Amino acid sequence: MTRRLLVTGAAGFIGANFCHYWHATHPADRIVAYDALTYAGNRANLGALDESPRFRFVHADIADTARVAALLREEAIDTIVHFAAESHVDRSIDGPDAFIATNVVGTHSLLKAAREVWMGGSEPVPHRFHHVSTDEVFGSLGPADPAFTETLAYAPNSPYSASKAASDHLVRAYLHTYGLQVTTSNCSNNYGPWHFPEKLIPLCIVNLLQGRELPVYGDGRNVRDWLYVEDHCRGIERVLERGVVGETYNIGGNNEWANIDIVNLLCDLVDEFFAADTALAARFPSAAPARGAASRSLIAFVRDRPGHDRRYAIDAGKVTRELGYAPVESFETGIRKTLAWYLANEPWWRAILDGSYRN
Ligand SMILES: NC(=O)c1ccc[n+]([C@@H]2O[C@H](COP(=O)([O-])OP(=O)(O)OC[C@H]3O[C@@H](n4cnc5c(N)ncnc54)[C@H](O)[C@@H]3O)[C@@H](O)[C@H]2O)c1
Repeated sequence: MTRRLLVTGAAGFIGANFCHYWHATHPADRIVAYDALTYAGNRANLGALDESPRFRFVHADIADTARVAALLREEAIDTIVHFAAESHVDRSIDGPDAFIATNVVGTHSLLKAAREVWMGGSEPVPHRFHHVSTDEVFGSLGPADPAFTETLAYAPNSPYSASKAASDHLVRAYLHTYGLQVTTSNCSNNYGPWHFPEKLIPLCIVNLLQGRELPVYGDGRNVRDWLYVEDHCRGIERVLERGVVGETYNIGGNNEWANIDIVNLLCDLVDEFFAADTALAARFPSAAPARGAASRSLIAFVRDRPGHDRRYAIDAGKVTRELGYAPVESFETGIRKTLAWYLANEPWWRAILDGSYRN
């Protein structure tokens, strides 16, 4: 089946990866990328897609219901994949308002536009509204607790996860109240190309290459499940193609890591890459291995984030059993690819660090 997709948050980390993935794997489909270009949105993430006749970028806010409705009509969109959000927990602690505005009010605005255009005529237009959410809505687990399943009660603890939980509930309500054809996926932590260097893995990589401190919250024993971003995109593809309307699907990597273990792994990988390629020391003279030191010497434990959830773990049994989903990348292959990508794309992250990426 061919689709005409509206991808919100398309200039962000996962949205951009999704556009690249979908453009490459669904050559007959049209992609309309929609993004307000907040600090996290970067046109450079979409790269060569701009030259494709099957791709269009629209710079606008999801809270603009009229703009979205007009675009849905103009482009005859049949599928919305909704990534747009404020996504960084630390920022939600410092300033929750933007999270309510985009994640709650913005999602509701998008739902209203979709309902108006797809359900407002005498006959509903065939459609799908896919909502991209997070495992953080389920709250925090103890070390021996079973992983999150789709039926677990929501218990969000940060303004970010509470705003995502609220948006999940609104999406559900639009199915049950109005019949909007929705699906939702709740995914674990992603990593990979175009990941904004405020999040743990890309922050560590760019700090390692510059010989800067690696800040680790608290005792570093907070546990997260990690999934290579393209595997998340494949999971969403499965849900769009085979998922049942009204269902929610957990997508995860069955890959739990304590933060400190990830930081140690990245340190050791950087040391290994520098040992294998002597040109790296000339490119990154401040990096610890370029100065004859071990990268682990850069680790610095810092005061914990308030209300820091201890452990997230996702049970991806349903998406595996019912939709035949399985990640392609192991953590070993995915993390190496990611480090190689940051080494090959130094101008991309330098432009973010010096602010010149602003569009
Ligand atoms: N990053 C993860 O590990 C992860 C895991 C699970 C779920 N998610 C969810 O996936 C989605 C994408 O996450 P991400 O990491 O790519 O986020 P991101 O912060 O990298 O990108 C968000 C994008 O949304 C855009 N945006 C923000 N407000 C907007 C608005 N009002 N209107 C239009 N566009 C707006 C931004 O400009 C940016 O391009 C989010 O909904 C997030 O909750 C993320």
